[in-house]
Amino acid sequence: MQKVQVMTIDGPSGSGKGTISRAAASALGWALLDSGALYRLVALAGRKAGIALEDAQSLGRLAQRLDIRFGSDSAGGEAVWLDGIEVTGRIRTEQAGNDASRVAALPIVRAALLERQRRFAVPPGLVADGRDMGTVVFPEAEVKVFLTASAAERALRRHKQLKEKGVAANLAALSLEIAERDQRDSTRAASPLVASVDAILLDTTGMSVDSVIERVLEVARERLSRTVG
Ligand code: DC
Repeated sequence: MQKVQVMTIDGPSGSGKGTISRAAASALGWALLDSGALYRLVALAGRKAGIALEDAQSLGRLAQRLDIRFGSDSAGGEAVWLDGIEVTGRIRTEQAGNDASRVAALPIVRAALLERQRRFAVPPGLVADGRDMGTVVFPEAEVKVFLTASAAERALRRHKQLKEKGVAANLAALSLEIAERDQRDSTRAASPLVASVDAILLDTTGMSVDSVIERVLEVARERLSRTVG
């Protein structure tokens, strides 16, 4: 059986994980797991079914049988379907992110998604983007990166991203939301956001996207050559 190599990229909201993970997966020719999208989908499915975001049992059952598909739309962009309906835009709102952070604090939901996440690991490799990829979901990963950036810079990046999408956003409100989300994601009992002891820490404050990608690929090549040779 061909060995599947895994690179985990964890970090807080707005650290650039999404962009970096996508670029790294494409450069390496590996699959990509956007684990945050799974939590966003559980929260959206819960809202659609009229389930309270505190109702752990019902959300756990929902997460078990979630009918989702990742693919591309007619223009070749990334797209996501829930129960056969395209929900790409709906899971990317700030509200969806906050909802996701709430359902992600429920251990039963995390347990329900564990095997589903591991099934994304297919040859030749996987880049897994999230909060607990290196600590819980893929503890044996060959390459682990933990991306951070100052809270102020992360809020600015998110603000710019939203503006580019034509969404009105207030920087002060965004900063507050990011701080709240960081606090919830880092202090929850189940799989909190924490760097794996064997992860390479990369503070991207003040770095361009290209230089972060370059550094992450450098780390990957270095670690992979060590595991191969
Ligand atoms: O990466 P993201 O912003 O799409 O994630 C949305 C929320 O989901 C985030 O606030 C915390 C949660 N999450 C998690 O708990 N574990 C993961 N592996 C990924 C996301």
